[in-house]
Amino acid sequence: MNDTMTLSQRADALEQKMSDELDYIVIKSRLYSMADADLSPAPNAAAIMAKNPRARVLMGDDPRLPEMPAKPTLVDFFKYRFGPAAHLLQSARHAVKGGLSEKMVLACLLHDISTIGFIRGDHGYWGAQLVEPYVEEEVTWAIRAHQVLRFYPDESVGYEYPASYVKTFGADYRPDAYVEEDYKRMRDHKWYMSGRMITVHDIYSFDPDVRVELEEFTDVIGRNFRQPKEGLGFDNSPVAHMWRAMIRPAKYL
Ligand SMILES: [Fe+2]
Ligand SMILES: [Fe+2]
Repeated sequence: MNDTMTLSQRADALEQKMSDELDYIVIKSRLYSMADADLSPAPNAAAIMAKNPRARVLMGDDPRLPEMPAKPTLVDFFKYRFGPAAHLLQSARHAVKGGLSEKMVLACLLHDISTIGFIRGDHGYWGAQLVEPYVEEEVTWAIRAHQVLRFYPDESVGYEYPASYVKTFGADYRPDAYVEEDYKRMRDHKWYMSGRMITVHDIYSFDPDVRVELEEFTDVIGRNFRQPKEGLGFDNSPVAHMWRAMIRPAKYL
């Protein structure tokens, strides 16, 4: 591949190479290419197939990813789909040490699952939606709220605007208007402090030397996450398709 190729040519070439080697063609969702600032048309599946008639467009399991059980549990997603979860595990342990209720320990354990498994932007909203059918309403509310409350200090619990945000986003960064609006709504909500607690236990949970195993929370998950017997993605819930998107992120249709 040479440097004069456009992003989409590069993607086409990669996909061609993959289909030559693997007998299947991966066509990414628009969202992935837009994240690469690539607005070009999707690779032409028919043209790729014409060059490699054995190849088929990916509709089933993706052989490049670890196999998922037929009825995946939350723990299976941690094991086979989510990225490193050290931050979430540390945050949950911190919540235990802080004496939080079990459901709030679960909220801390899950607060960033969208960042490590789905979509980054607005991750608190996505994460809350992912777990909504399976946890208490307060847990969903708190996960959504942490997204917003992270940007606002609360002296009553010693929470300051994160120094890391000043560094990461610049000293002049201001949250979007819809975040500000949500903050005003959340500030007066009966569960405000639950959302706030996620931010409190969030901030101390980035220690590269602390190791926490998911097994430490098996019981908390068992008691507080209503695992559907059909498996996440197959229980006909309003969010089942979102879990399926993580099982087969490159499914063509
Ligand atoms: Fe977060
Ligand atoms: Fe976090």
